[in-house]
Amino acid sequence: MTGRTALVVVSHHRADSLTAHIGSVAAARLEEAGYAVDLLDLRAEGFDPRMTVEDQPDWDDREKVYSAEARAHMDRILAADLIISVFPVYWNGLPALLKGWIDRVWNYGFSYGRSKPRLAGKRMLWIGTAGAPEGDEYWASLQDILDRTLRDGISFYSGITDAAVAVLPDAEGEPQIVDAEGNLTKGEALTGGQRVAHYAALDRRAVEHLEKFLALD
Ligand SMILES: Cc1cc2nc3c(=O)[nH]c(=O)nc-3n(C[C@H](O)[C@H](O)[C@H](O)COP(=O)(O)O)c2cc1C
Repeated sequence: MTGRTALVVVSHHRADSLTAHIGSVAAARLEEAGYAVDLLDLRAEGFDPRMTVEDQPDWDDREKVYSAEARAHMDRILAADLIISVFPVYWNGLPALLKGWIDRVWNYGFSYGRSKPRLAGKRMLWIGTAGAPEGDEYWASLQDILDRTLRDGISFYSGITDAAVAVLPDAEGEPQIVDAEGNLTKGEALTGGQRVAHYAALDRRAVEHLEKFLALD
């Protein structure tokens, strides 16, 4: 046992999604590495991502007492040494479920707005699944956008300096390319053994990203 805790946050509306599956794969690898895993499935726990008056920041009061629900989530973040957020890339960013969790829980006075950040010293890995194939211009720009908004804009802004973003490409097993004129081309959907091999490779890549980030072997 390492005595360390990992909070694995899964943000998807379907229990049988690739996202949920990658969350389980990551949780299993972390347990193997000796972490106690707190698996937070936002959908299964009925988290409502819509901002409320109770959880809206008060810029004149960083000690504001937020809703009991938000505070319970804050406690789970505080208890974790490592935060792994697994999500599908939607519109080059976060799905609403995860965006709302950040909005309501990573709140003023808790994760930011203090000269000594409460989350300093924690580590955070964002694992996104994306429909896009890797290697082209869009792929490069997607990595850049996510790095800026997630690693820099959220983790670093919240005092978490040891953070990274990993994106798993081709998450639908059916390539979709938009060319310079905006035309969409759909490739052949993978089937049978090829499909199985494709998703097994994504599992391995997720584990490799985790091992690299945590320097596990
Ligand atoms: C609303 C929506 C927006 C999406 N936006 C993007 C996008 O900007 N870039 C991309 O590569 N894939 C995009 N996708 C594809 C998803 O990333 C992909 O379907 C997902 O990662 C598959 O994993 P899942 O089975 O866990 O949902 C989008 C999908 C949806 C439904």
